[in-house]
Amino acid sequence: LHLDTIGRLRAVCDDARRSGGSVGLVPTMGFLHEGHRSLIRAARAATDLVVVTIFVNPLQFGPTEDLERYPRDLAADTAACEADGVDAVFAPSVDEMYPRPSLTTVSVAGLTDVMCGLARPTHFDGVTTVVTKLFSIVGPCRAFFGRKDAQQLAVVTRMAQDLDLPVDVVGCPLVRESDGLAMSSRNAYLSGDERRAALVLSKGLRAAAGAVVAGERRAAAVRSIVVETVASERLVDLEYADVRDAADLATLDEITTGKVLVAVAARVGNTRLIDNVTFLIDGRGVQVDAGVIATPKEPA
Ligand code: PAJ
Repeated sequence: LHLDTIGRLRAVCDDARRSGGSVGLVPTMGFLHEGHRSLIRAARAATDLVVVTIFVNPLQFGPTEDLERYPRDLAADTAACEADGVDAVFAPSVDEMYPRPSLTTVSVAGLTDVMCGLARPTHFDGVTTVVTKLFSIVGPCRAFFGRKDAQQLAVVTRMAQDLDLPVDVVGCPLVRESDGLAMSSRNAYLSGDERRAALVLSKGLRAAAGAVVAGERRAAAVRSIVVETVASERLVDLEYADVRDAADLATLDEITTGKVLVAVAARVGNTRLIDNVTFLIDGRGVQVDAGVIATPKEPA
């Protein structure tokens, strides 16, 4: 199950394809929860060789961010992967991934200097650089990403298209706790009070979704609903609430036809959280994608 070297992972993926199998890739930073595991199950259902990568990528953390204290539990992650039928877990050392400082950066312009890119100016370059490495090591595959990180999904999708990478980027539903909180490895940082306060994010998005379903089409009005809901909780500091095109992240004044993203980022104490809801609007009306509630699973 465990592969530690780039060479071994590449060989295993090449072998699978040579014998006619498809490869499914689920890149993660570990501390796996039901959000990650839903991607793994989607990969398991759709591809023959399922590869999960677990790597807390230093390149995507800013100098004042939580790289050192990012939660890790490789034993539990391995057990979860095993329970979900993963074929290969790639958990490389920093040295294996970056034996020398990377002089090469993959950067997607435009999509990365808005939203989370404002507070985290080097973050997405770190993501796209490591994801390009993983795509290069694994080779032709389907790669599964969560809509929890809607901007990351838009950025990686665009990168794969722009660079003709032989990877089919697949977006998967955002998974929530039973009370609505979007699942995140960083939820482990929250105190009890912070955990309760953090619910205003999903609550605000739910209220915004209700307004859109009821016919509201002005982006500013939808945004205000989120801003006001979040402002009702003093423990939560809103970083942004944006209404944007889900694919090119262009700001919208009106919610018209197409896929529209309403996304938030906020600080709860020292913890930075994100959440979003998307709308698909066509001639027949509005479809809301607010994600799914995790079905309680027996622990791995
Ligand atoms: P990480 O935060 O571990 O997330 C790994 C994958 O799980 C991402 O595609 C993310 O969108 C998805 N995910 C996380 N929480 C989710 C949730 N509640 N519902 C659905 N999907 C969820 O994202 C990263 O790691 C890194 O940036 C990475 C892509 C691995 C590059 O280092």
